Amino acid sequence: SLRARVKIVEVGPRDGLQNEKNIIPTPMKIKLIDMLSEAGLPVIEATSFVSPKWVPQMADHAEVMKGIQKFPGISYPVLTPNFKGFQAAVASGAKEVAVFGAASELFSKRNINCSIDESVRRFDEILKAARAASIPVRGYVSCVLGCPYEGKISPAKVAEVAKKMYSVGCYEISLGDTIGVGTPGTMKDMLSAVMHEVPVAALAVHCHDTYGQALANTLMALQMGVSVVDSSVAGLGGCPYAHGASGNLATEDLVYMLAGLGVHTGVNLQKLLEAGAFICQALNRRTSSKVAQATCKL
Ligand code: HMG
Ligand code: MG
Repeated sequence: SLRARVKIVEVGPRDGLQNEKNIIPTPMKIKLIDMLSEAGLPVIEATSFVSPKWVPQMADHAEVMKGIQKFPGISYPVLTPNFKGFQAAVASGAKEVAVFGAASELFSKRNINCSIDESVRRFDEILKAARAASIPVRGYVSCVLGCPYEGKISPAKVAEVAKKMYSVGCYEISLGDTIGVGTPGTMKDMLSAVMHEVPVAALAVHCHDTYGQALANTLMALQMGVSVVDSSVAGLGGCPYAHGASGNLATEDLVYMLAGLGVHTGVNLQKLLEAGAFICQALNRRTSSKVAQATCKL
């Protein structure tokens, strides 16, 4: 059963840009975020307070946070892998953060350089400080439908990690198909397992589109009661520690589908398309959004 409203978490400025080889000028990132705010996205993941040695593209995180217009009612969360990142994020004015773990030991090691257990300890430290500062913390679980290093990941493992992250206090758990290998069938099995451990109201899905399944996988999650969906304008995205993975589900395509289903998102598709056109031109690349490519209209 579909919810009457779906909250879209726009991850383009972070997931979409983190994988770009050439360093994008900070004003361009700021303009993209401002255009996304104009389009009415309720949540815009703005940047990451990760190590610039690991992800050079996100090194201007503090300048981005300082430069963006903060629209009332829109939240601008940032990724924080450890306490150092959390402190820097708060100092730069972040009002919400996200921690990111994985259902795969090898991916955890490659992406954040620690085991799953160690990552949960680090998140717990962040969550304690965040609670004291009244900062909501979102939690990502990566590799929920497959891992570039371990291959298949069991739904039980995803459920176990999701439960741990929920237990330490993440208000929302975003389940990431990091490499975009899932299908609606594997999505259904994985979500069924996770829903035993975490209430569906606290779940989000985050689908990459490598195999062209992101929209179908997302629809499956919506039909199972999920009402928070991550997506990226123009379908940009990818993780530097998951080679070969393509971008996220395009926000334009998600908004078009939800409008057709009569589900409220509050997003202005025309303005969203303008933001997509802007960033594609700036990056000199073609959009991955089918809706943005489409020329025939009803
Ligand atoms: P490490 O090397 O183990 O860190 O990296 P460390 O604690 O040993 O410190 C080493 C150096 O880094 C020190 O500096 C620290 O100060 C510095 P030095 O003394 O050598 O000059 N450092 C930092 N600097 C700035 N900000 C920080 C920070 N922390 C330490 N926060 C670390 C561990 C977690 C930092 C590193 O592995 C890292 O930054 N990883 C981030 C990788 C990343 O951003 N991946 C992409 C995002 S995840 C994703 O895309 C998936 C997602 O979209 C969901 C999905 O699709 O599934 C979310
Ligand atoms: Mg991602």
